[in-house]
Amino acid sequence: MAKSKANQLRIAVIGGSGRMGQEILSLAATDPSLEIVATVSRRADLPAPNVVRKMSGLPKGKIDVVIDFSLPEVLDEVCTWCKTNRTALVSGVTGLSAAQKKKISSLGQIIPVLWAPNMSVGVAVLAEMLAGFKSLQGFEFQIEETHHKHKKDKPSGTALFLQDKLEAAVGPTPEPLAIRGGGVFGIHKIWAMGEEETITLEHSALNRRVFARGALRAARWIRGRPAGVYTMADVIRS
Ligand SMILES: NC(=O)c1ccc[n+]([C@@H]2O[C@H](COP(=O)([O-])OP(=O)(O)OC[C@H]3O[C@@H](n4cnc5c(N)ncnc54)[C@H](OP(=O)(O)O)[C@@H]3O)[C@@H](O)[C@H]2O)c1
Repeated sequence: MAKSKANQLRIAVIGGSGRMGQEILSLAATDPSLEIVATVSRRADLPAPNVVRKMSGLPKGKIDVVIDFSLPEVLDEVCTWCKTNRTALVSGVTGLSAAQKKKISSLGQIIPVLWAPNMSVGVAVLAEMLAGFKSLQGFEFQIEETHHKHKKDKPSGTALFLQDKLEAAVGPTPEPLAIRGGGVFGIHKIWAMGEEETITLEHSALNRRVFARGALRAARWIRGRPAGVYTMADVIRS
């Protein structure tokens, strides 16, 4: 492993062989302010920097931020490693159970944690816009999401996150509608439907890189923060 340059952000990527993991690794490789200290993948032949097959293989005391884009079944191990090693965590994993979300909240009492079902700046801004819907009287609301056919969770974590924000503004709304097909990176649409007018807010991810860029921005932001549970809204506000 090469010696870190002063001030470089030392990251480990969990799920490095996945669609998102690959995107993060390729973006990080172009940025000299980042050092990929380790990549976790069960694929020993993965062409990535410093591959280890398990979290237990990560070097201790050498990682500033763990970035996790694996799957929910890996979350417990990731949380335990970050807690034991007092290392900040940025997780974009979706499809978490209520118990896993609680685990992230508890972890935030010990280390800095940022969990976001969508790391794009656009969705963070879109979520804030939903507060404006509280002025709409007599409207029906519906969230609709479309993703590639390989996406495992349904509705998407982003749709559920937007629904929380929408319901905080307008009260209970129906469950999001989910469409799966092709290679769509992610489209989220929020309908406000009145008798005489409609509003639709739509966010489309044009590539996967937008999420990777957000995750790396979050990782830079979280280094040196006190323990707490943070969101992309915290990142874009500062
Ligand atoms: N927050 C966001 O902005 C955002 C954006 C897009 C996607 N996501 C979410 O990010 C996650 C990953 O998405 P993806 O499309 O990259 O998935 P993917 O291509 O299926 O990759 C999943 C990764 O998880 C690892 N993995 C799976 N099971 C494992 C296990 N039991 N132990 C260790 N590693 C395991 C795999 O690594 P190996 O098989 O090599 O071990 C693989 O690298 C999903 O939850 C997705 O919904 C979030």
